[in-house]
Amino acid sequence: MSTLPTRRGAYGFDAPYAPILMVLNGTCLLALSVTQLWTGEGRHAMMRATALGVGALGQLFIAGIYIYFTRAGKFAVWTDLLDRLELKGDERLLDIGCGRGAVLLMAAQRLPRGRAVGIDVWSTMDQSGNAEQVTRRNAALEGVAERVELHTADMRHLPFDDGSFDVVVSSLAIHNISGAGERARALREAARVLKKGGKVAIADVRHTRAYASELEACGLKITERRSLGGRFWYAAALRLVAAIKL
Ligand SMILES: C[S@@+](CC[C@H](N)C(=O)[O-])C[C@H]1O[C@@H](n2cnc3c(N)ncnc32)[C@H](O)[C@@H]1O
Repeated sequence: MSTLPTRRGAYGFDAPYAPILMVLNGTCLLALSVTQLWTGEGRHAMMRATALGVGALGQLFIAGIYIYFTRAGKFAVWTDLLDRLELKGDERLLDIGCGRGAVLLMAAQRLPRGRAVGIDVWSTMDQSGNAEQVTRRNAALEGVAERVELHTADMRHLPFDDGSFDVVVSSLAIHNISGAGERARALREAARVLKKGGKVAIADVRHTRAYASELEACGLKITERRSLGGRFWYAAALRLVAAIKL
């Protein structure tokens, strides 16, 4: 397990309703299991109680992993991904769907002579307490406010010129767009704003094969497409697509 970077900002919970539902589910299954044990009789009641108990523990375990990942594990994963980008420190980096700045601000700390630009529509369904002023406060708390720029924008219509970024990153954001065609539009925008020789790193829970195809169709070379589990076992649901613009 990689060392967790110290964070001074407050980064909320991704899709906050998800762990709430998991915990509620687990608690209900546990209550049903206890009720079976209490009121049921015989081997079948015991088997039902055991099955419900196992289901309950499974749900609570998954909720625990989810909470660990969103509060801590994500930062360890992105520390590694940002290391692999081998930033020189003077790049212009764009984070699409930056939310409260988990990745954007870690990137900004590696860009003493560069600029970290974040765009978002600030959906509180996708991240708790999501708001531009929260990200701005986090940037100040992390000591990088002077090199961070935030814009309210949809990733399908980026308000930037062609070839204006050295690096584009995105964490857990593109899957929030519904419709394959709309997600493809976001990827075309990411490719458009990237300079020749520029790098992309996208980590997401779904659709990464389609992201890679779209980036390839835009003339980028896929350098990695893999699960982020393994060393980061708690991130097994997450996949990486990395590419370079030829
Ligand atoms: C799960 S959060 C992840 C935030 C951040 N990247 C992180 O890893 O902490 C997903 C983010 O995508 C943003 N988002 C969803 N749809 C978007 C869109 N069409 N354009 C820009 N941002 C979007 C949400 O507002 C939210 O901030």
